[in-house]
Amino acid sequence: MEIVPSLLSADFSDLAKEIRAVEKAGACRLHLDVMDGHFVPNITIGPFIVEAIRRQTNLHLESHLMIENPDKYIDAFVKTGSDTVIIHIEASKDIRKDLAHIRDLGANAGLVLNPPTDFKAIEPHLAYIDHLLVMTVNPGFGGQKLIRSSLSKVTLAKPYQDKYGFYIEVDGGINMDTLAEAKAAGTDLFVAGSAVFSKRQPYESFKELSEKLIGE
Ligand code: DX5
Ligand code: ZN
Repeated sequence: MEIVPSLLSADFSDLAKEIRAVEKAGACRLHLDVMDGHFVPNITIGPFIVEAIRRQTNLHLESHLMIENPDKYIDAFVKTGSDTVIIHIEASKDIRKDLAHIRDLGANAGLVLNPPTDFKAIEPHLAYIDHLLVMTVNPGFGGQKLIRSSLSKVTLAKPYQDKYGFYIEVDGGINMDTLAEAKAAGTDLFVAGSAVFSKRQPYESFKELSEKLIGE
């Protein structure tokens, strides 16, 4: 089990420093939130920034693509250094083809679903993924409140995880108060943006969350 810092809430004027802080605190992965202003209202980073981040760190980079037509950008996000590329079931026109394409390029294939999307929509694809991301907020912004009902999808995915061996990660509203609940559902990886970067120093916040995760 691991806390995965989301750079969305980091200080983008000094990303290298923010990355070093969570690296030092023991992070093994970084979560990169890619938003296009269409699939979600917000606009954030593109492959150019992923490349810049890649030059700063050897951590596992997971790119969460909250974009329309993800198929057009898979190559770019792998080429610039993403180890895992995560695409939305709601955005892809041919999810099976897109997942296979990510794997063909040598990266890990991730699938993600929004809170209103039923677990049944992803069920047929679980044999073809390396990573399942369960959104516990509606995507677009950091600092939102956890939608508790989404955690039941983690529990529903567990039997498939035993069979196919993918990671299960939750994204949105994870902090000191909600961590235990997300852990109890059976989560492996816990994305945390504002809880790591907005409160105190990221080094301390990451450590505190990690200790809570192991201690619970
Ligand atoms: C939301 C993003 C999240 C976000 C989480 O659209 O996908 O990764 O950074 O932020 P917090 O941890 O603040 O809810
Ligand atoms: Zn995300």
